[in-house]
Amino acid sequence: MTTTQNREQQVVEGVAKGLYIGGSWVDAHDGGTFPVEDPATGNVLCEVADADSEDALRALTAAAGAQGDFAAMAPRERGEILRRAWQLMTERADDLALLMTLEMGKALAESKAEITYAADFLRWFAEEAVRIQGDYKVTANGLGRTWVIRQPVGPCVLITPWNFPLAMGTRKIGPAIAAGCTMVMKPAQLTPLSMNALAQILEEAGLPAGVLNIVTTSSSGSTVAPLLEDPRTRKVSFTGSTEVGRKLMQQASENLLRTSMELGGNAPFIVFEDADLDKAVEGAMIAKLRNIGESCVAANRFYVHESVADDFSSRLADRMGSLKVGRGTDEDVDLGPLIDEDQRGKVAELVDDAVAKGAKSLVGGGKMDGAGYFFEPTVLGGVTSDARLLKEEIFGPVAPVITFSSEDEAVASANDTEFGLVAYVFTEDLRRALRLVEKLETGMIGLNKGLVSNPAAPFGGVKASGFGREGGSEGINEYLEVKHIAVDL
Ligand code: SIN
Repeated sequence: MTTTQNREQQVVEGVAKGLYIGGSWVDAHDGGTFPVEDPATGNVLCEVADADSEDALRALTAAAGAQGDFAAMAPRERGEILRRAWQLMTERADDLALLMTLEMGKALAESKAEITYAADFLRWFAEEAVRIQGDYKVTANGLGRTWVIRQPVGPCVLITPWNFPLAMGTRKIGPAIAAGCTMVMKPAQLTPLSMNALAQILEEAGLPAGVLNIVTTSSSGSTVAPLLEDPRTRKVSFTGSTEVGRKLMQQASENLLRTSMELGGNAPFIVFEDADLDKAVEGAMIAKLRNIGESCVAANRFYVHESVADDFSSRLADRMGSLKVGRGTDEDVDLGPLIDEDQRGKVAELVDDAVAKGAKSLVGGGKMDGAGYFFEPTVLGGVTSDARLLKEEIFGPVAPVITFSSEDEAVASANDTEFGLVAYVFTEDLRRALRLVEKLETGMIGLNKGLVSNPAAPFGGVKASGFGREGGSEGINEYLEVKHIAVDL
């Protein structure tokens, strides 16, 4: 065994494989496990406990039992737990990044960037924990007082995706801890190890037993459903597809749960004739290829003014074509594999559909041979308006370029989607920029910038991209109830 293989094995061995319930690592009640695969090789890394509804309810009992004491813990103390966890994540970034690359595939440099991003949610919410605001006002008639306090919502069910195995978790866990909420977390089946490693860190940082409970499972639907039906649950926060979000909303409606939904995207990336093209290409590389394109904020449709479209497309094709694709753990690799064969098949289908309808591949265009789920970085020119990839989220390294001739046309095309998460706009014209940020129907806009994600900013969408905001000073409000006390003097 080489030194590298040895280190990979050690990192996987160092992670707990059980369910984390009431502060203990336990087996699933029926002893079941499921495999975790390395998407770069298809090899099984290890087995983890496979929870079912009985285990999930055990986890909820632990969360409900811990809620009272945790809500009463001093905000400063909750903040300090988060701060210590940030410190531990930062110190262990190399091992956490390797673990993430092994189970998710992205290149090590990207995993390291995610560890920093994920840890920063903990640091941010450590600072927010002590700033939960109330209000005390004289009533309009001057005779009474209105007093408003904020209290933790109560036990939360948190459901996270495989594409950002840690950041999507800390973006929920951070504000929940800051607000004083206990949790049952269900990480994605494909990437459970990073979440377990985070639980180990939070435990070491002093998080009391029962506050965070983790149920890894290969049967998400049937494991989560009873949690949403149980009156002890007070909130569900989900990051994932719009399709699953709709189902969860239906289930959550029975129990009238507070819900936060961070769902799919179909981001337009608009390049005007007055844009700084170097900046636009740089922004496109990030907006398209961060996380191998497997991100809900990935640029999905490139609308480029007809006068600069050829120049932009050929520069983008050169840059994308020069990237090194390979196992994320290998040195100098820029892009890792897609998560699994299903995802790779979907991306290939969308590219084939666009090409059959008239698009031309300027670089890439298909699956790569050999083991793992690799897909060539692809730029498509001359994409026709009926191509499916203009309506559906690609979730892969494919950039379709469409030309436009007027600002109105660009705005109409950008808004012609059920989604509304993010839009990217490249222009040097300030008036145009100001017009565009108001006209685009999205929750976030990257103005001459290909990355909007930042723990200090509210992340979230409109339309079928969901609702609720994560991060920023808004993020903690998702975990707080507002209570009004009418005061008579
Ligand atoms: C996502 O893809 O769900 C979120 C990406 C981000 O936070 O940047």
